[in-house]
Amino acid sequence: MSSIMTEATTSPTSTSGLSHFMDRRNFIRTSVLTGTGVYLATSKSAVAQQTSADRVLKVALVGCGAQGERLLGASKDIPGIQFTAVCDIFPMKRRGIAARVKYTYGSVTEYTEIEEMLAKEKDLDCVLIATPDFLHAPFTRLALQAGKAVYCEKMMANTIENARDMVKAQRETGGLLQIGHQRHSNPRYINVRENILQKNGLLGRVTHMYGQWNRGVSASVPLEVKKGTELDSATLTKYGYDNMEQFLNWRFFSKYGAGPISDLGAHQIDMFNWFFSEKGKPLVTPVSVIATGGTDYYDGKDGRAHFELPDNVMAMYEYQGSEGIRRAYYQVLTTTGSQGYYEKLMGIEGSLVISESPTSNSIYKEPNATKRWDPLAETNPPVLARSALSVHNKLWEKPKPWYRAPKWMDVKTDSRESKALEAWELGAVAPGLPHHYHLVNFFECARTKNIAGLNCPVEDAFRSCVTVLKCYESMKTGAKYVFKPEDFTV
Ligand SMILES: NC(=O)c1ccc[n+]([C@@H]2O[C@H](COP(=O)([O-])OP(=O)(O)OC[C@H]3O[C@@H](n4cnc5c(N)ncnc54)[C@H](O)[C@@H]3O)[C@@H](O)[C@H]2O)c1
Repeated sequence: MSSIMTEATTSPTSTSGLSHFMDRRNFIRTSVLTGTGVYLATSKSAVAQQTSADRVLKVALVGCGAQGERLLGASKDIPGIQFTAVCDIFPMKRRGIAARVKYTYGSVTEYTEIEEMLAKEKDLDCVLIATPDFLHAPFTRLALQAGKAVYCEKMMANTIENARDMVKAQRETGGLLQIGHQRHSNPRYINVRENILQKNGLLGRVTHMYGQWNRGVSASVPLEVKKGTELDSATLTKYGYDNMEQFLNWRFFSKYGAGPISDLGAHQIDMFNWFFSEKGKPLVTPVSVIATGGTDYYDGKDGRAHFELPDNVMAMYEYQGSEGIRRAYYQVLTTTGSQGYYEKLMGIEGSLVISESPTSNSIYKEPNATKRWDPLAETNPPVLARSALSVHNKLWEKPKPWYRAPKWMDVKTDSRESKALEAWELGAVAPGLPHHYHLVNFFECARTKNIAGLNCPVEDAFRSCVTVLKCYESMKTGAKYVFKPEDFTV
């Protein structure tokens, strides 16, 4: 029996769990190590002889809430890793995730506190942090100091000060730290950045960007405390929470989070910076932001919940592009699900819409476009797909009008109407769970100790964190905030 099997073998939860676990063990044994080769270690010494690049990475999850669960699910098919420990102060959440880990990986140790986990789990390689944002900085520092590779969820911190500390912790320890802006590793987004924008310039000069995350009240309402699952007040106080409501709905209170503009905007405003940055170079940052918003609905009145932080924000960024100014509008609303969430780039030769949800996946050609798009549908894999009739879920432009325009509009020379745009589909596909690709990148870099290979190093995430959180400065003063170079330095 291989040492890997010995280490992993503890009683599984059920007979079906056993067979699943056996499959998983075989999977680990056969596919981890070289990616293509078959690993047939038969003794501990055989394992010891392997290079570190061949090891099964031991992984701990800290924070077993909604996102912790997603990270675990998105890691399921990644070879060469084994979750061995989970940590959470909330037994209800921790136990559920621990049972899943045990089922999939054969054994698990549960911890309430990260300090104890790091002290006892000496042979851990990686720590995934999916706790409320205010804990990211201290937990990341602890894990890096313990020599672990860290994958920490976005938003990297709820204050710029804490975000800065994370950059410092990485620099001081020289550790590997990936921030969970998973679009950086998504093949569909990479196709847009590398092929559509940078290599082929299909949109021409991009003058505007737009992003939104609209979520209706049914998705935004605060979580209710389920009777019998409450943490007692001494426990809440010990871990820094004022009460159970805030513990569950931490993202709407400044002590723990930074509101929807940070929670959801973190992903999309980061894309404004990322789309026009070159791989390996620091992320592009805006020159100014003007923002407005407020707690207009969740104000605690008439039985509604109370959010301390704005439940809606609208922000306008300005970027200095090489060809001139580029403006980006962002909105996050928690009172309507209208048109969901997506990012849009608008250039003089074309526009595109993309979302992590692949329902938004279109690119439109302006009549004045100078480049030929057809050859890019023939590449392998295709950059574009010519499928106007099969382009589903278009929100705006239609390849053909779906209703007959009134006569007064039906004048070819009428300057009020643009010609219909030619609709294409973005070519790349990403069948895996959105976080999968980012985790693959992280584990690969952790295995090879390749900090430069990370798709979202902490320095990039820091720039996006500052970009987002400075909205609050503008909202406070009502004036445009002009970024200073030192805002983005550590
Ligand atoms: N990348 C993404 O797409 C994405 C999506 C959702 C959330 N997130 C991020 O993931 C993180 C977690 O969000 P969530 O939605 O899972 O929140 P959640 O409230 O569902 O889960 C947080 C978990 O952390 C635990 N926790 C709190 N204090 C702790 C402590 N001191 N030690 C250990 N565990 C503690 C809680 O008990 C809870 O189980 C946040 O940073 C959030 O921004 C990222």
